[in-house]
Amino acid sequence: MLYLTLVDIHFANDLETLSQGDSILEKKLRILLVGGSGTLGKAVARELSARHEILVAGRSNGSLNIDITDIDSMRKAFSSMPKLDAVVCAAGSVKFAPLADIQAAPFSDSAYSVGITNKLLGQVNLALLARDHLNENGSITLTTGILSDHPIAAGSSATMVNRAIEGFVVAAATELPRGIRINVVSPNVLVESMEHYAPFFRGFEPVPAARAALAFSRSVEGRETGQVYKVY
Ligand SMILES: NC(=O)c1ccc[n+]([C@@H]2O[C@H](COP(=O)([O-])OP(=O)(O)OC[C@H]3O[C@@H](n4cnc5c(N)ncnc54)[C@H](OP(=O)(O)O)[C@@H]3O)[C@@H](O)[C@H]2O)c1
Repeated sequence: MLYLTLVDIHFANDLETLSQGDSILEKKLRILLVGGSGTLGKAVARELSARHEILVAGRSNGSLNIDITDIDSMRKAFSSMPKLDAVVCAAGSVKFAPLADIQAAPFSDSAYSVGITNKLLGQVNLALLARDHLNENGSITLTTGILSDHPIAAGSSATMVNRAIEGFVVAAATELPRGIRINVVSPNVLVESMEHYAPFFRGFEPVPAARAALAFSRSVEGRETGQVYKVY
């Protein structure tokens, strides 16, 4: 008991010294948040806007027009803004279809093309473009979801795409220049989405979007890279 108390006192003193001397802890970051008007994105915006400047982007909502399937829209948006400290993506669509209904097909006709083009390549392209528009030690945070680990019926595209994104993040973290970090947040189904998703997620324990948003905060405001933050 005494030992714990002493440790607590030292920790408190250390934190005080840090907060006085280490401007990293006080730096206001400029963060691009793609999908910031969505169910997940709104919670991420709420969490991060308390301490940082947030630029919200989407196809039609937000102050910047970005479609992650349209490279020109991303290039245009990046060139219109000053350098950033973090890029966060809380967007990405996949098609849900029972495996029995999915036939072998060339990419253009494949049931998997939506997820690959949108959630996977959209986020990967955003990350690649962000690399050149981030300040030193900036960060990139992408989004997957619990279907990476726990498949549901009709979810083969979601599981495939989520795992591919996580693979990209783990590998890209080893090669990004100038101290730039990259992580991915994988939330459980959100409480706020259960009204629509409940039939697909029986037995899952939904998490509040605000809890998932904390993982985005860890990615943006922490020091780790190559991490998959599982919020479940
Ligand atoms: N909801 C959940 O339970 C849950 C759980 C785990 C993971 N996730 C993942 O979290 C992400 C967001 O899900 P959500 O439920 O928050 O979705 P949502 O409520 O439908 O919101 C999607 C957001 O992304 C933007 N957006 C959509 N397509 C876009 C595109 N092509 N380019 C740029 N922005 C785009 C939308 O704004 P515009 O309409 O203006 O483009 C909106 O701000 C998805 O990747 C999803 O798989 C969700």
